[in-house]
Amino acid sequence: MIETVHVNVPGRSYDVIIGPGLLTQGGPRIAPFLSRPRVVIVTEENVAALHLAALKTALADSGISSEALVLPAGEGTKSWPFLEQTVEFLLTQKVERGDIVIAFGGGVIGDLVGFAAATVRRGVRFVQIPTSLLAQVDSSVGGKTGINSPIGKNLIGAFHQPTLVLADTALLGTLTPRDFLSGYGEVVKYGLLGDANFFETLEEEGAAIAAGDMAARVRAVTRSVQMKADIVERDETEQGDRALLNLGHTFCHALEAATGFGDRLLHGEGVSIGCALAFELSARLGLCSQEDPSRVRTHLKAMGMKTDLADIDGDLPDAAALLALMGQDKKVVDGKLRFILARGIGDAFITSDVPADVVLSVLRDGLALR
Ligand code: GLY
Repeated sequence: MIETVHVNVPGRSYDVIIGPGLLTQGGPRIAPFLSRPRVVIVTEENVAALHLAALKTALADSGISSEALVLPAGEGTKSWPFLEQTVEFLLTQKVERGDIVIAFGGGVIGDLVGFAAATVRRGVRFVQIPTSLLAQVDSSVGGKTGINSPIGKNLIGAFHQPTLVLADTALLGTLTPRDFLSGYGEVVKYGLLGDANFFETLEEEGAAIAAGDMAARVRAVTRSVQMKADIVERDETEQGDRALLNLGHTFCHALEAATGFGDRLLHGEGVSIGCALAFELSARLGLCSQEDPSRVRTHLKAMGMKTDLADIDGDLPDAAALLALMGQDKKVVDGKLRFILARGIGDAFITSDVPADVVLSVLRDGLALR
């Protein structure tokens, strides 16, 4: 049940290996990349409690010694103080250019450690061992690394491709259902943006994926990673097509900002609502049929995911304020909002040509149902 997706970026190509039990194969999988038998691991406290001993044992069984830095869990770790702590740890551990740093955790750890690896000694290699569904299908692949600024999310960073990604799908079994479903928002996104057949498969297999069917999970992660690899190979630094991966994210980032980037709305939940809103907007602009947003919402709802603005607890700002928050997004070019819209399921495109009044009407109608 082990699959490999090759990410072909000239001079920096690597494999993403997907399947259950990869953690216990960490030693032999990582050993070929080492110039000496030692690694440095950076992780967070929840992952450490569940899985760090298993990773260290797997490495030790191959004669690889390891030192670990365990950081606090949560988005707050993706910040200057913890970047400094991570970089100082790597320097204290005398990590050299030939060494490997392991980023062992979800998206926060992958982004932070990847950025630290990009800057220490002007770049050391790192291996991603993503432990969340979101990290396995999105953030561990493609080389976007970085931290948040008080001014906005992901505003400080670098492109730094990993040397290897080990996506152990057995680790997904320890996620809370809410965290798992949040990551599933990114899986659905791939079907919606570029593969109608994949979306149809998700409609059929979504319940089995959520229930823990390992073969179905491996298929879903592999197809998602393959789609991401194809896009990253075409456009590593997001000059064009890579922005398709931001389907649902213009709405999502505004909703995350409005809810304080925290537990009220997880990123993947915002992506799920954002995808539903992007399809609603596309239908109102006459780009896709009215059945498409209904079909998107039906699947998301069937999975028990947040789908509508009404699914967000607590107060939300009005439509104009949400639109203003969208204007803070990284996807603004020359003051114009860039949206990923769709001509149908599996057929997304990038446009800056979206009348603000139609966006406002979509938001107003969503807010009216709260
Ligand atoms: N998560 C979007 C990207 O990697 O481009």
